[in-house]
Amino acid sequence: MADTSQAAASTVSAAPKSAPFGKTQDGQEVQLYTLTNAHGVQVSITNYGGIITSLLVPDKDGKLGDVVLGFDNVSGYQSPAYLKAGPYFGALIGRYGNRIAQGKFTLDGKAYSLAQNNGANTLHGGKQGFDKVLWQAQPGSSADGQTLQLTYLSKDGEEGYPGNLTVTVVYTLTPDDALKIDYTATTDKATPVNLTNHAYFNLGSGKDILGHVVTIPADRYTVVDAGLIPTGELRAVKGTPFDFTTPHAIGERIGQVPGGYDHNWVLNETTGMHAAATVYEPTSGRTMEVRTTEPGLQFYTGNFLDGTLKGKGGKVYGQHAGFCLETQHFPDSPNQPKFPSTILKPGQTLQSSTTYQFGLRK
Ligand code: GLA
Repeated sequence: MADTSQAAASTVSAAPKSAPFGKTQDGQEVQLYTLTNAHGVQVSITNYGGIITSLLVPDKDGKLGDVVLGFDNVSGYQSPAYLKAGPYFGALIGRYGNRIAQGKFTLDGKAYSLAQNNGANTLHGGKQGFDKVLWQAQPGSSADGQTLQLTYLSKDGEEGYPGNLTVTVVYTLTPDDALKIDYTATTDKATPVNLTNHAYFNLGSGKDILGHVVTIPADRYTVVDAGLIPTGELRAVKGTPFDFTTPHAIGERIGQVPGGYDHNWVLNETTGMHAAATVYEPTSGRTMEVRTTEPGLQFYTGNFLDGTLKGKGGKVYGQHAGFCLETQHFPDSPNQPKFPSTILKPGQTLQSSTTYQFGLRK
């Protein structure tokens, strides 16, 4: 064991490797960057949408396995079937992650209308969110490990949002097998901003994630209407299938939640870097711990996957093939004065961090 990791250590270079990942539909070259640490843990990220396309972590036998859903080439993320299904595999989400009701909000007395792409609502930024744009990429390294810095300028009026918003996202793969994501943003006009990553995880090798055991340290969740828009009520999870304050298998009570889990949990802790979720997959022994600076967590169980998409290695992605833990501010906050504010003003810098820490329980 020690020998292999030493051998791996000597092959880890200072900067991530890069390779071509195909061309966008309008002919632009896309790159894939691979960050590696001394344990051989590897994450591949493309500058198209900042998408995490693969993430290799060891199981209890030391065997590396890919724990995220995705495609081998950028065209997988641009196919008509993919765009129709809209699962946002592994992507950076913005300018506003999750939903804004009717694509409308009022800010400083001015009414704004956004691109509507989820019925009448705006979801994950609109028609062309941050998941579907090319980011400027700068691979590098820091004291914490190999890094990939991605930058995007979202222009004033893009998808209906006010202000030129400059967004920087730094992915870091640490020596102790955590993937850290640091987001910063500045604007020249007040605008709502809610940034997240939409990775779908499956820590095992099964077709679905129902056997994963999840803990979410949240006593409340935001109740939603039929269109998944919050009513404003924060309801206690106690005595409901939403209670993950103690560990529960995803499949244990999912049948009691019509459609499956697709809700925002109100995290108990809100200051600094705090706990958002822990996940344990019994067959592989893999664990994942999520920590964040954000107040909320969208736990989504891949309810809309229906087997029409084939991913890496021809794998069919059926319902519940993966789950997402999207750290975020609450959905529709621009229309919910009692929710923590998502408004970024000129002169302020938005800073948000999330880590996905991988480990093993034998
Ligand atoms: C989010 C939403 C879901 C769904 C997925 C993408 O998690 O809350 O309703 O739209 O994104 O399919």
